Amino acid sequence: MTTSPAARPAARSAEKPNASQVLDRVLVLEMVRVTEAAAIGAARLIGRGDEKAADAAAVEAMRAAFNELYMDGTVVIGEGERDEAPMLYIGEKVGSAPGTGPRIDIALDPLEGTTITAKAGPDALAVLAVAEEGGLLNAPDVYMEKLAVGPGYPEGVIDLDRTVAENVQAVAQAKGVEPSDIVVCVLDRARHEGIIAQLRALGCGVRLIPDGDVAGVIAVTNEDTGIDMYMGTGGAPEGVLAAAALRCVGGQFKGRLLFRNEDEKARARKWGITDLNKIYDLADLAKGDCIFAATGVTDGSLLDGVKFRKNGIMTTDSVVMRASSGTVRWVKGEHRRQR
Ligand code: FBP
Repeated sequence: MTTSPAARPAARSAEKPNASQVLDRVLVLEMVRVTEAAAIGAARLIGRGDEKAADAAAVEAMRAAFNELYMDGTVVIGEGERDEAPMLYIGEKVGSAPGTGPRIDIALDPLEGTTITAKAGPDALAVLAVAEEGGLLNAPDVYMEKLAVGPGYPEGVIDLDRTVAENVQAVAQAKGVEPSDIVVCVLDRARHEGIIAQLRALGCGVRLIPDGDVAGVIAVTNEDTGIDMYMGTGGAPEGVLAAAALRCVGGQFKGRLLFRNEDEKARARKWGITDLNKIYDLADLAKGDCIFAATGVTDGSLLDGVKFRKNGIMTTDSVVMRASSGTVRWVKGEHRRQR
């Protein structure tokens, strides 16, 4: 076992640790080492046209990095179910201390943006969220309708049961601008033609992204991106990851699972979801204390990508945030291949 000193547990107290203590023991910065490892693994395959190889490299590197950490981790959102994913499948135990270390639930996407990476496009990330046991929604791999705004808006300014126009008007009014001044990020998909047409009819700016809605949702929290809202349908697991980030930095997020067939409904029930029409709020998706970490694979609005420099030096750009403190750390890494 090569657990680093920083990752070893603090002296055990006789009392059961609360949520924050559990996460203290994992240590926020250790999570960056995990996303850095995955990002470097995937980055060797940027622009190589092979989505599967890029994803596999990220998965393998992330799993190895997790297994260095002193914890009893369980993947609750991962690469798929046990029979469809060889590694980091839902339910897989990770960490060096099964049964004895702090019990942590993990949502992960070692490579969020496999197609982006294969094509060397923007905003591919290695990403994860951790929370105390039971803190993250065990979201099935189905679609989720998503609506998000950044911090500083009155609670309830967005509502999935309202129309596109009503949501834009509410956000514009709260921001003190015209609806035509609002910029909305949307995944570039045929299923969003209706939303895009309604936004354009209002005169809104529409920022279309090819993939990667974790970064798209997080973009609403950063005024420098110019994006006010996120709208549209993407993966439910990605919704939980983005919600964990918004729990840390603020903002509002609404999500509703979308089922295309009975099989998808059955999958949701299997993970304990009874109300299939529920609108999920941030705290339904990621509750209690949680940590969100991401490292850029390719350059993007949130983070720079991995760079392979002279003499075997690789640089990484990461962010790690924690809900209980609201602290956001931007971490630049320099890694030497030979050491
Ligand atoms: P991958 O990393 O699995 O390629 O997912 C990328 C992504 O764009 C997500 O960010 C998004 O939630 C989902 O795919 C959208 O799904 P679809 O491509 O089916 O529209």
